[in-house]
Amino acid sequence: MTTNSTLSISHLTVKFGGLVALDDVYLDVPSNSIVGLIGPNGAGKTTLFNSISGLVPVTTGEISIHGKNVSWPKSYDLAGYGISRTLQGVGLFSGLSVVENVMMGANIESGSNFFKDLFGLSGQAEKKLRRRAEDALAWAGALALADKNPSELTYPETKRVSIARALVLQPSILLLDEPAAGLGQDDIDKFASLLQQLKQRCSIIIVEHHVDFIGQISDQVYVLNFGKVIASGTFDTVKRDPAVLAAYLGTSSQSGNDQLGGS
Ligand SMILES: Nc1ncnc2c1ncn2[C@@H]1O[C@H](COP(=O)(O)OP(=O)(O)O)[C@@H](O)[C@H]1O
Ligand SMILES: [Mg+2]
Repeated sequence: MTTNSTLSISHLTVKFGGLVALDDVYLDVPSNSIVGLIGPNGAGKTTLFNSISGLVPVTTGEISIHGKNVSWPKSYDLAGYGISRTLQGVGLFSGLSVVENVMMGANIESGSNFFKDLFGLSGQAEKKLRRRAEDALAWAGALALADKNPSELTYPETKRVSIARALVLQPSILLLDEPAAGLGQDDIDKFASLLQQLKQRCSIIIVEHHVDFIGQISDQVYVLNFGKVIASGTFDTVKRDPAVLAAYLGTSSQSGNDQLGGS
């Protein structure tokens, strides 16, 4: 563990019945850095995210946040740990403006009745939350969209608003599961520079099939295969690692984006 770790994990094992989804996994996320997680399908990437966000029970393992050993986060108290993740499958509410959708992000993770909470806020509390939402939108490069209706947004704009919704919790750790999925090259490049800005504000752990994108943005890359970390380090180091090349060569049925060493 480095002295300025935002999050550090050691000896993490997750079993689903007889299946070992994660096996003695370690991860260290220095402050203000982007850590990329790659690996073939079924390697355990999502399970690692779910362990950090309290969505699967951890069999064994330790986690520390800001250098302090803590118990594994519960899904209903991620904000208490300073952790936020984008919510896949949770679309934006079309009856609300973009900024109101982002304000909702403050309550979604806490499991409370967010409709009641948002509309029951005092004028002053609402103003404060709105300012936080505008700040989050600014960091996500989407402040100009604040008063739009979600139905007016392009697909890449929707992605930015989802990031803003995760940022409204003012996390120190942001988990992004395949945020570039479905984006064209032009938007991927813009998204990469957005994330480079964002790491001034928090650490980012990102799972992405798009290996070139991971290489472009990550300070550290971890490669998982069959639940184990088979390599970690800079992208330039891991992409030459024989174990990594072997893992990817064994998955030639996957899409071109999943292949290493193409560029
Ligand atoms: N809730 C679950 N119950 C049983 N097996 C699971 C569950 N979630 C994931 N797995 C299994 O754990 C392994 C890792 O899956 P996953 O973390 O989704 O991989 P990745 O995200 O890298 O594709 C796979 O073999 C998968 O089938
Ligand atoms: Mg996955």
